[in-house]
Amino acid sequence: MSRFFSELSDSVTYEIRNSESLATLKTFENGRFDLVLSSPPYNVGKEYETKTSIESYLESQEAIIEELIRTLSERGNLCWQVGNYVDRGEIFPLDIFYYQLFKKHGMKLRNRVIWHFGHGLHASNRFSGRYETLLWFSKSDNYIFNLDDVRIPAKYPGKLHFKGPNRGKPSGNPLGKNPSDVWEIVARDWETAMWNIPNVKSNHPEKTPHPCQFPIELVERCVLALTNKGSWVLDPFAGVCSTVIGAIIHERNAIGIERESDYCSIAEGRIRDLREGKLKIRPITKTIHVPSANDKIARIPQEWVNSKALFKVSDQ
Ligand SMILES: C[S@@+](CC[C@H](N)C(=O)[O-])C[C@H]1O[C@@H](n2cnc3c(N)ncnc32)[C@H](O)[C@@H]1O
Repeated sequence: MSRFFSELSDSVTYEIRNSESLATLKTFENGRFDLVLSSPPYNVGKEYETKTSIESYLESQEAIIEELIRTLSERGNLCWQVGNYVDRGEIFPLDIFYYQLFKKHGMKLRNRVIWHFGHGLHASNRFSGRYETLLWFSKSDNYIFNLDDVRIPAKYPGKLHFKGPNRGKPSGNPLGKNPSDVWEIVARDWETAMWNIPNVKSNHPEKTPHPCQFPIELVERCVLALTNKGSWVLDPFAGVCSTVIGAIIHERNAIGIERESDYCSIAEGRIRDLREGKLKIRPITKTIHVPSANDKIARIPQEWVNSKALFKVSDQ
């Protein structure tokens, strides 16, 4: 099932810069962006990169990171999504290396999100890799965080306080629960219900020729939680501009920097389709859980029903 957005707010601005990241970043003023969201090249020899030693790879990334932090606003957030660098069968989890770099430049880690997906290559000399990580840093302690905008339905909305002054009243939040720091692939599975974001593979409605694009759903969650309407969002390694798309559909402004012109052309096409209501986007996983009628603890409390303060969800 897919979503189509036919209306894009006229007040939203976006730019796709077909250029080198570092040179372009140097042209931006201090504090312009409320969110940097990106997946950098992993130095694993994909079609858009030349594999080098991990030391020289990180050195070139550090120059970019310094610019990203300079252009981040005081209330700004930065999300850096990475997997492993692999050298002769040995894995180097990139988040371990990147954590040191961001910390050295004063950034504060708020979550190390595990993005788990159920499919991928089967390894033969180690266990198959089924997760990557997303490091969420803030620039200061006064960072933007809109938890209510990304809550998910609770598994047991009927759970009640069993003691204290609120005894007998619902113990959860009528807007839903905190989605946690594990984003799970298995869609609509209530036993593992977390943030269910399938990896973008060939049967995914969003798939383009780019070898490792973000699911827009992942972008949307970061954008909704970590920026406000009208904020500016930046992706310095934009690929086919999933970050830009996830930002502009929620009335944020966005800039994507990508040095491969083919990816920029695909990105322009995606945004054209978005404007025309033709871009297929997998629904953000916010399905209402239908509890079993026999299970008292799974029933939605009557007082929430009366107050109409139920989850901010739609059945997609
Ligand atoms: C992991 S991919 C990002 C994919 C993206 N998240 C998406 O959803 O399409 C990294 C991208 O960074 C681009 N890239 C690598 N080095 C770059 C640089 N120095 N300046 C600009 N783009 C670069 C690559 O061409 C590649 O498309």
